[in-house]
Amino acid sequence: MFKKVQKWFDERIELTETINEFNGERIPRSGGWAYTFGSLLAFLFTVQVATGIFLLFYYVPYFPVARDATYFIKHNVLFGSLLLGIHLWGAFTMVFILVVHMARVYFSGAYKKPRELQWVIGMALFSFVIVLGLTGYMLIGNENSWWTINVLSNVAAHTPFLGGFIRILARGGTETSTLAMQHIFAVHVWLLPIAVILLIPTHLFLIRKTGHQGMAMEYNKSKLPDDNIDKWKHPDATVPFFPDQFYKDMIVAIVVFVVVYLLAIFFVPEVGPVYNPLALHFAPEADWYFLANEELLKFFPGHGLIIFATFLVPIIGFVILFALPFIDRGHERSPFKRPAATILGIFFLLLIVYLTLMGGEPKAPATI
Ligand code: HEM
Repeated sequence: MFKKVQKWFDERIELTETINEFNGERIPRSGGWAYTFGSLLAFLFTVQVATGIFLLFYYVPYFPVARDATYFIKHNVLFGSLLLGIHLWGAFTMVFILVVHMARVYFSGAYKKPRELQWVIGMALFSFVIVLGLTGYMLIGNENSWWTINVLSNVAAHTPFLGGFIRILARGGTETSTLAMQHIFAVHVWLLPIAVILLIPTHLFLIRKTGHQGMAMEYNKSKLPDDNIDKWKHPDATVPFFPDQFYKDMIVAIVVFVVVYLLAIFFVPEVGPVYNPLALHFAPEADWYFLANEELLKFFPGHGLIIFATFLVPIIGFVILFALPFIDRGHERSPFKRPAATILGIFFLLLIVYLTLMGGEPKAPATI
Protein backbone atom coordinates (compact mmCIF):
# COMPACT_ATOMS: atom_id res chain seq x y z
CA MET A 1 0.00 0.00 0.00
CA PHE A 2 2.75 2.44 1.05
CA LYS A 3 4.74 1.57 -2.10
CA LYS A 4 1.68 2.33 -4.24
CA VAL A 5 1.19 5.74 -2.61
CA GLN A 6 4.91 6.47 -3.01
CA LYS A 7 4.77 5.48 -6.70
CA TRP A 8 1.72 7.72 -7.22
CA PHE A 9 3.58 10.74 -5.87
CA ASP A 10 6.86 9.83 -7.59
CA GLU A 11 5.19 9.68 -11.01
CA ARG A 12 3.89 13.19 -10.52
CA ILE A 13 6.35 15.17 -8.37
CA GLU A 14 9.41 12.89 -7.98
CA LEU A 15 8.86 12.90 -4.22
CA THR A 16 11.41 10.20 -3.29
CA GLU A 17 14.12 11.92 -5.31
CA THR A 18 13.38 15.27 -3.64
CA ILE A 19 13.45 13.74 -0.14
CA ASN A 20 16.70 11.87 -0.90
CA GLU A 21 18.26 15.05 -2.20
CA PHE A 22 17.22 16.89 0.98
CA ASN A 23 18.42 14.14 3.31
CA GLY A 24 21.68 13.64 1.46
CA GLU A 25 22.93 17.20 2.08
CA ARG A 26 26.61 16.92 2.99
CA ILE A 27 27.59 18.63 6.21
CA PRO A 28 30.99 18.94 7.93
CA ARG A 29 31.77 15.90 10.09
CA SER A 30 33.19 17.41 13.26
CA GLY A 31 31.04 19.21 15.78
CA GLY A 32 27.68 17.69 14.77
CA TRP A 33 26.16 18.48 18.18
CA ALA A 34 27.12 22.13 17.77
CA TYR A 35 25.01 22.28 14.59
CA THR A 36 21.89 21.13 16.39
CA PHE A 37 21.09 24.59 17.81
CA GLY A 38 19.77 26.00 14.50
CA SER A 39 17.27 23.14 14.06
CA LEU A 40 16.42 23.39 17.74
CA LEU A 41 15.46 27.05 17.24
CA ALA A 42 13.19 26.11 14.34
CA PHE A 43 11.61 23.42 16.53
CA LEU A 44 11.13 25.78 19.50
CA PHE A 45 9.52 28.36 17.25
CA THR A 46 7.04 25.69 16.06
CA VAL A 47 6.22 24.89 19.70
CA GLN A 48 5.58 28.61 20.33
CA VAL A 49 3.23 28.84 17.35
CA ALA A 50 1.35 25.69 18.37
CA THR A 51 0.88 26.68 22.04
CA GLY A 52 0.15 30.29 21.02
CA ILE A 53 -2.71 29.15 18.77
CA PHE A 54 -4.32 27.24 21.65
CA LEU A 55 -3.94 30.21 24.00
CA LEU A 56 -5.82 32.32 21.43
CA PHE A 57 -8.91 30.20 22.02
CA TYR A 58 -9.39 31.99 25.37
CA TYR A 59 -7.21 35.10 25.40
CA VAL A 60 -8.84 38.55 25.09
CA PRO A 61 -6.57 41.38 23.82
CA TYR A 62 -8.30 44.18 25.70
CA PHE A 63 -6.51 45.85 28.60
CA PRO A 64 -9.34 45.86 31.17
CA VAL A 65 -9.79 42.06 30.84
CA ALA A 66 -6.49 40.73 29.40
CA ARG A 67 -5.00 39.91 32.81
CA ASP A 68 -8.20 38.15 33.93
CA ALA A 69 -8.33 36.22 30.66
CA THR A 70 -4.75 35.03 31.32
CA TYR A 71 -5.74 34.11 34.88
CA PHE A 72 -8.77 32.23 33.54
CA ILE A 73 -6.58 30.25 31.12
CA LYS A 74 -4.21 29.31 33.94
CA HIS A 75 -6.86 28.26 36.45
CA ASN A 76 -9.96 27.21 34.53
CA VAL A 77 -8.99 25.94 31.09
CA LEU A 78 -8.09 22.25 30.63
CA PHE A 79 -4.25 22.10 30.33
CA GLY A 80 -4.30 25.92 30.38
CA SER A 81 -1.55 26.17 32.98
CA LEU A 82 0.61 23.73 30.99
CA LEU A 83 0.05 25.66 27.76
CA LEU A 84 0.93 28.96 29.41
CA GLY A 85 3.98 27.37 31.04
CA ILE A 86 5.29 25.81 27.82
CA HIS A 87 4.70 29.09 25.95
CA LEU A 88 6.62 31.05 28.60
CA TRP A 89 9.51 28.62 29.21
CA GLY A 90 9.66 27.88 25.46
CA ALA A 91 10.18 31.61 24.83
CA PHE A 92 12.90 31.83 27.50
CA THR A 93 14.64 28.74 26.11
CA MET A 94 14.45 30.14 22.59
CA VAL A 95 16.18 33.38 23.63
CA PHE A 96 18.87 31.38 25.44
CA ILE A 97 19.46 29.02 22.50
CA LEU A 98 19.58 32.02 20.12
CA VAL A 99 22.56 33.33 22.08
CA VAL A 100 24.20 29.87 22.08
CA HIS A 101 23.67 29.52 18.29
CA MET A 102 25.06 33.01 17.68
CA ALA A 103 28.07 32.26 19.89
CA ARG A 104 28.75 29.03 17.96
CA VAL A 105 28.60 30.93 14.66
CA TYR A 106 30.71 33.79 16.06
CA PHE A 107 33.54 31.70 17.53
CA SER A 108 33.80 29.49 14.43
CA GLY A 109 33.92 32.57 12.17
CA ALA A 110 30.99 31.15 10.17
CA TYR A 111 29.61 34.66 9.49
CA LYS A 112 32.48 35.44 7.11
CA LYS A 113 32.37 35.44 3.31
CA PRO A 114 30.37 33.78 1.70
CA ARG A 115 27.93 33.55 4.68
CA GLU A 116 27.37 37.24 5.46
CA LEU A 117 23.70 37.08 4.43
CA GLN A 118 23.00 34.17 6.78
CA TRP A 119 24.32 36.31 9.63
CA VAL A 120 22.31 39.40 8.60
CA ILE A 121 19.09 37.38 8.33
CA GLY A 122 19.99 35.71 11.62
CA MET A 123 20.26 39.15 13.26
CA ALA A 124 16.82 40.08 11.89
CA LEU A 125 15.49 36.82 13.36
CA PHE A 126 17.18 37.62 16.66
CA SER A 127 15.53 41.07 16.83
CA PHE A 128 12.11 39.69 15.96
CA VAL A 129 12.33 36.93 18.57
CA ILE A 130 13.33 39.45 21.26
CA VAL A 131 10.41 41.74 20.36
CA LEU A 132 8.11 38.69 20.36
CA GLY A 133 9.24 38.00 23.93
CA LEU A 134 8.71 41.60 24.96
CA THR A 135 5.28 41.92 23.42
CA GLY A 136 4.30 38.58 24.97
CA TYR A 137 5.24 39.97 28.38
CA MET A 138 3.04 43.01 27.73
CA LEU A 139 0.08 40.84 26.67
CA ILE A 140 -0.25 39.25 30.13
CA GLY A 141 -2.04 42.48 30.99
CA ASN A 142 -0.82 42.75 34.61
CA GLU A 143 0.84 45.63 36.44
CA ASN A 144 4.26 44.78 34.99
CA SER A 145 2.80 44.75 31.46
CA TRP A 146 1.37 48.24 31.95
CA TRP A 147 4.71 49.61 33.14
CA THR A 148 6.65 47.77 30.43
CA ILE A 149 4.47 49.35 27.75
CA ASN A 150 4.97 52.81 29.28
CA VAL A 151 8.69 52.54 29.86
CA LEU A 152 9.59 50.83 26.58
CA SER A 153 7.42 53.09 24.44
CA ASN A 154 9.33 56.01 26.01
CA VAL A 155 12.63 54.31 25.18
CA ALA A 156 11.52 53.56 21.62
CA ALA A 157 10.51 57.21 21.23
CA HIS A 158 14.25 57.99 20.97
CA THR A 159 14.48 56.17 17.61
CA PRO A 160 15.46 58.79 15.02
CA PHE A 161 12.58 59.84 12.70
CA LEU A 162 10.21 56.98 13.68
CA GLY A 163 10.31 57.37 17.50
CA GLY A 164 7.13 59.42 17.95
CA PHE A 165 5.19 57.15 15.61
CA ILE A 166 6.36 53.97 17.41
CA ARG A 167 5.34 55.40 20.78
CA ILE A 168 1.84 56.29 19.58
CA LEU A 169 1.52 52.90 17.91
CA ALA A 170 2.57 50.99 21.04
CA ARG A 171 0.42 53.07 23.39
CA GLY A 172 -2.62 53.28 21.17
CA GLY A 173 -2.50 57.08 21.57
CA THR A 174 -0.32 59.68 23.27
CA GLU A 175 -0.96 57.97 26.64
CA THR A 176 -1.23 54.21 27.19
CA SER A 177 -4.82 53.37 26.33
CA THR A 178 -6.91 50.25 25.95
CA LEU A 179 -5.99 50.27 22.24
CA ALA A 180 -2.35 49.55 23.23
CA MET A 181 -3.22 45.91 23.80
CA GLN A 182 -4.82 45.48 20.37
CA HIS A 183 -1.77 46.99 18.68
CA ILE A 184 0.68 44.87 20.64
CA PHE A 185 -1.47 41.81 20.03
CA ALA A 186 -1.44 42.39 16.26
CA VAL A 187 2.36 42.68 16.34
CA HIS A 188 2.77 39.59 18.57
CA VAL A 189 0.43 37.17 16.80
CA TRP A 190 0.52 38.41 13.19
CA LEU A 191 3.29 40.74 12.13
CA LEU A 192 6.30 39.17 13.85
CA PRO A 193 5.38 35.47 13.49
CA ILE A 194 4.76 36.01 9.77
CA ALA A 195 8.13 37.77 9.46
CA VAL A 196 9.86 34.89 11.30
CA ILE A 197 8.00 32.27 9.24
CA LEU A 198 9.28 33.96 6.06
CA LEU A 199 12.82 34.49 7.33
CA ILE A 200 13.57 30.98 8.68
CA PRO A 201 13.23 29.29 5.24
CA THR A 202 15.29 32.13 3.69
CA HIS A 203 18.00 31.52 6.31
CA LEU A 204 17.94 27.78 5.55
CA PHE A 205 17.88 28.31 1.77
CA LEU A 206 21.03 30.45 2.00
CA ILE A 207 22.73 27.84 4.20
CA ARG A 208 21.92 25.26 1.52
CA LYS A 209 23.32 27.54 -1.18
CA THR A 210 26.71 28.11 0.49
CA GLY A 211 26.83 24.81 2.37
CA HIS A 212 27.51 24.61 6.11
CA GLN A 213 30.82 25.99 7.17
CA GLY A 214 30.75 24.29 10.54
CA MET A 215 33.92 24.30 12.64
CA ALA A 216 37.22 25.75 11.42
CA MET A 217 39.10 22.54 12.33
CA GLU A 218 37.38 20.77 9.44
CA TYR A 219 39.48 22.74 6.93
CA ASN A 220 42.98 21.97 8.24
CA LYS A 221 43.93 19.64 5.38
CA SER A 222 42.83 22.00 2.62
CA LYS A 223 45.65 23.19 0.36
CA LEU A 224 43.67 26.26 -0.74
CA PRO A 225 44.59 29.64 0.80
CA ASP A 226 42.25 31.10 3.45
CA ASP A 227 41.04 33.91 1.19
CA ASN A 228 39.86 31.42 -1.44
CA ILE A 229 36.10 31.23 -1.11
CA ASP A 230 36.08 27.61 -2.36
CA LYS A 231 38.09 26.50 0.65
CA TRP A 232 35.19 27.34 2.97
CA LYS A 233 32.69 25.42 0.86
CA HIS A 234 34.52 22.10 0.97
CA PRO A 235 35.29 20.70 4.42
CA ASP A 236 37.86 17.86 4.71
CA ALA A 237 35.26 15.30 5.77
CA THR A 238 31.49 15.36 5.48
CA VAL A 239 28.52 13.22 6.55
CA PRO A 240 25.02 13.14 5.05
CA PHE A 241 22.32 15.09 6.92
CA PHE A 242 20.32 11.84 7.21
CA PRO A 243 20.80 9.84 9.37
CA ASP A 244 23.86 11.39 11.10
CA GLN A 245 22.69 14.93 11.79
CA PHE A 246 18.99 14.13 11.74
CA TYR A 247 19.22 11.85 14.80
CA LYS A 248 21.32 14.38 16.72
CA ASP A 249 18.75 17.11 15.94
CA MET A 250 15.93 14.81 17.10
CA ILE A 251 17.65 13.83 20.36
CA VAL A 252 18.38 17.47 21.27
CA ALA A 253 14.83 18.59 20.38
CA ILE A 254 13.28 15.82 22.54
CA VAL A 255 15.58 16.47 25.52
CA VAL A 256 14.99 20.24 25.41
CA PHE A 257 11.23 19.75 25.05
CA VAL A 258 11.20 17.50 28.14
CA VAL A 259 13.13 20.18 30.07
CA VAL A 260 10.65 22.91 28.94
CA TYR A 261 7.74 20.61 29.87
CA LEU A 262 9.15 19.96 33.36
CA LEU A 263 9.85 23.67 33.91
CA ALA A 264 6.25 24.41 32.85
CA ILE A 265 4.96 21.91 35.43
CA PHE A 266 7.23 22.74 38.35
CA PHE A 267 7.63 26.50 37.81
CA VAL A 268 4.15 27.57 36.84
CA PRO A 269 4.14 31.18 35.58
CA GLU A 270 2.66 33.84 37.85
CA VAL A 271 -0.15 35.91 36.32
CA GLY A 272 0.65 38.80 38.67
CA PRO A 273 -1.56 41.57 40.06
CA VAL A 274 -3.88 43.68 37.99
CA TYR A 275 -2.69 47.25 37.22
CA ASN A 276 -3.70 49.62 39.99
CA PRO A 277 -3.46 53.32 39.04
CA LEU A 278 -3.75 54.25 42.75
CA ALA A 279 -0.70 52.21 43.86
CA LEU A 280 2.02 54.33 45.48
CA HIS A 281 4.82 51.76 45.38
CA PHE A 282 5.78 49.29 42.71
CA ALA A 283 8.88 47.17 41.98
CA PRO A 284 8.87 46.65 38.20
CA GLU A 285 10.48 43.42 36.99
CA ALA A 286 11.96 42.97 33.54
CA ASP A 287 12.14 39.58 31.79
CA TRP A 288 15.51 37.93 32.59
CA TYR A 289 17.01 38.74 29.19
CA PHE A 290 16.53 42.47 29.88
CA LEU A 291 18.13 42.39 33.31
CA ALA A 292 21.58 43.17 31.85
CA ASN A 293 20.16 46.22 30.12
CA GLU A 294 18.36 47.28 33.28
CA GLU A 295 21.58 46.88 35.29
CA LEU A 296 23.37 49.22 32.87
CA LEU A 297 21.22 52.02 34.29
CA LYS A 298 23.42 51.99 37.41
CA PHE A 299 26.43 53.01 35.31
CA PHE A 300 24.61 56.06 33.96
CA PRO A 301 23.09 57.74 37.03
CA GLY A 302 20.95 60.85 36.73
CA HIS A 303 18.02 61.58 34.47
CA GLY A 304 20.10 63.08 31.63
CA LEU A 305 22.22 59.93 31.18
CA ILE A 306 19.43 57.34 31.22
CA ILE A 307 19.23 57.45 27.44
CA PHE A 308 22.75 55.92 27.26
CA ALA A 309 21.74 52.79 29.16
CA THR A 310 18.27 52.34 27.73
CA PHE A 311 18.89 53.23 24.12
CA LEU A 312 22.31 54.35 22.91
CA VAL A 313 24.55 51.55 24.28
CA PRO A 314 22.15 48.72 23.22
CA ILE A 315 21.56 50.27 19.79
CA ILE A 316 25.27 50.80 19.10
CA GLY A 317 25.99 47.24 20.25
CA PHE A 318 23.23 45.93 18.03
CA VAL A 319 24.39 47.86 14.94
CA ILE A 320 27.97 46.62 15.41
CA LEU A 321 26.73 43.04 15.76
CA PHE A 322 24.51 43.40 12.69
CA ALA A 323 27.40 44.66 10.58
CA LEU A 324 29.94 42.19 12.02
CA PRO A 325 30.68 40.31 8.74
CA PHE A 326 31.40 43.63 7.04
CA ILE A 327 33.60 44.90 9.89
CA ASP A 328 35.60 41.73 10.55
CA ARG A 329 36.69 40.87 7.00
CA GLY A 330 39.76 38.76 7.80
CA HIS A 331 39.71 35.23 6.35
CA GLU A 332 40.95 33.34 9.40
CA ARG A 333 38.22 31.20 11.08
CA SER A 334 39.95 29.34 13.89
CA PRO A 335 39.16 30.95 17.28
CA PHE A 336 42.78 30.24 18.34
CA LYS A 337 44.26 32.17 15.43
CA ARG A 338 42.13 35.30 15.85
CA PRO A 339 42.66 36.01 19.56
CA ALA A 340 41.23 39.56 19.47
CA ALA A 341 37.81 38.36 18.23
CA THR A 342 37.81 35.41 20.64
CA ILE A 343 38.80 37.49 23.69
CA LEU A 344 36.26 40.21 22.83
CA GLY A 345 33.52 37.59 22.37
CA ILE A 346 34.30 35.90 25.71
CA PHE A 347 34.55 39.29 27.45
CA PHE A 348 31.12 40.45 26.24
CA LEU A 349 29.47 37.10 27.00
CA LEU A 350 30.84 37.19 30.56
CA LEU A 351 29.82 40.84 30.93
CA ILE A 352 26.25 40.06 29.88
CA VAL A 353 26.10 37.07 32.27
CA TYR A 354 27.48 39.26 35.11
CA LEU A 355 25.04 42.13 34.45
CA THR A 356 22.14 39.67 34.19
CA LEU A 357 23.03 38.09 37.55
CA MET A 358 23.42 41.52 39.16
CA GLY A 359 20.15 42.70 37.61
CA GLY A 360 18.41 39.66 39.13
CA GLU A 361 19.13 40.79 42.71
CA PRO A 362 15.91 41.82 44.52
CA LYS A 363 15.11 45.54 44.32
CA ALA A 364 13.28 47.85 46.69
CA PRO A 365 9.86 48.98 45.44
CA ALA A 366 9.99 52.31 43.63
CA THR A 367 7.75 55.17 44.72
CA ILE A 368 5.48 56.18 41.88
C1 HEM B 1 14.91 31.60 14.81
C2 HEM B 1 16.20 31.78 14.66
C3 HEM B 1 17.15 30.91 13.86
C4 HEM B 1 16.96 29.69 13.24
C5 HEM B 1 15.68 28.84 13.18
C6 HEM B 1 18.23 29.31 12.65
C7 HEM B 1 18.45 28.12 11.96
C8 HEM B 1 19.71 27.72 11.52
C9 HEM B 1 20.05 26.39 11.07
C10 HEM B 1 19.07 25.19 11.02
C11 HEM B 1 21.36 26.38 10.73
C12 HEM B 1 22.20 25.17 10.25
C13 HEM B 1 22.55 24.30 11.44
C14 HEM B 1 23.42 25.01 12.47
O1 HEM B 1 24.49 25.51 12.11
O2 HEM B 1 22.97 25.05 13.64
C15 HEM B 1 21.85 27.74 10.93
C16 HEM B 1 23.12 28.17 10.61
C17 HEM B 1 23.53 29.49 10.66
N1 HEM B 1 22.89 30.49 11.35
FE1 HEM B 1 21.05 30.40 12.14
N2 HEM B 1 19.14 30.30 12.89
C18 HEM B 1 18.54 31.29 13.63
C19 HEM B 1 19.13 32.43 14.14
C20 HEM B 1 20.39 32.86 13.79
C21 HEM B 1 21.04 34.04 14.33
C22 HEM B 1 20.45 34.94 15.41
C23 HEM B 1 22.24 34.15 13.68
C24 HEM B 1 23.29 35.21 13.83
C25 HEM B 1 23.07 36.45 14.09
C26 HEM B 1 22.35 33.05 12.76
C27 HEM B 1 23.39 32.84 11.86
C28 HEM B 1 23.65 31.64 11.22
C29 HEM B 1 24.80 31.39 10.36
C30 HEM B 1 25.88 32.39 9.94
C31 HEM B 1 24.73 30.04 10.02
C32 HEM B 1 25.70 29.26 9.13
C33 HEM B 1 26.67 28.52 10.03
C34 HEM B 1 27.56 27.57 9.29
O3 HEM B 1 27.47 27.47 8.06
O4 HEM B 1 28.37 26.90 9.98
N3 HEM B 1 21.22 32.26 12.87
N4 HEM B 1 20.85 28.51 11.43
